[in-house]
Amino acid sequence: MKNMPLKNIHNEIWEDLKDGVKNTKSSFHFPVISTINKDGFPSSRTVVLRETNKKNKIISFNTDVRSNKWLEINNNNKVSVNIYDANKKTQIRIIGAATVNYKNKKWDSAWESTPKMSRECYSTPYSPSTVISKPDDIDINLNQIKTENYEKYKVNFGRVDIKIYSLDWLYLIHSGHRRAKFIYDKKISMVWMAP
Ligand SMILES: Cc1cc2nc3c(=O)[nH]c(=O)nc-3n(C[C@H](O)[C@H](O)[C@H](O)COP(=O)(O)O)c2cc1C
Repeated sequence: MKNMPLKNIHNEIWEDLKDGVKNTKSSFHFPVISTINKDGFPSSRTVVLRETNKKNKIISFNTDVRSNKWLEINNNNKVSVNIYDANKKTQIRIIGAATVNYKNKKWDSAWESTPKMSRECYSTPYSPSTVISKPDDIDINLNQIKTENYEKYKVNFGRVDIKIYSLDWLYLIHSGHRRAKFIYDKKISMVWMAP
């Protein structure tokens, strides 16, 4: 990997991202997304990678539209993403612009491909980050909705697409680290950087 040409490294990053959608054992399945919160602080959290589009340089995840991250993206769509794969000794840092999908075609198809178990996440009457008096209220709600139609919780569901501006790849190896940057402008530019 260390001595691969930039083009091959770039291809491998996108292969890893694609694999990360289905492969729950991959670190690429769990990117950390950072947004800027209302007080101006970066706010980071793990999400599940749901889709990649190499041609258009987009990666996607699902979330609750009542969550802070959804509000934050609506205020400032500049986001960063971090993935560290310990097996591959590789860190990927992404910056890009997020787009929210709600009540559009992408939203419909993202919901359709969300399994029942995951739809359950959107059923809570409590918005994420709400202060609650008893944590097990959440379990009571989950038990109650077992037989209900999940469709009505679609209103809480959102799909976020991140259009990638650049990918920063770092490979740590004792014989000499390697770092490269891939910038998507009209064309892709690929450069080596000091680690
Ligand atoms: C392994 C893992 C996967 C997660 N996947 C998602 C996800 O796909 N979407 C999501 O909104 N939150 C996901 N979360 C929860 C977020 O990390 C976060 O705690 C929650 O969404 C509230 O974030 P916010 O208040 O910054 O919006 C996941 C957490 C973990 C630990």
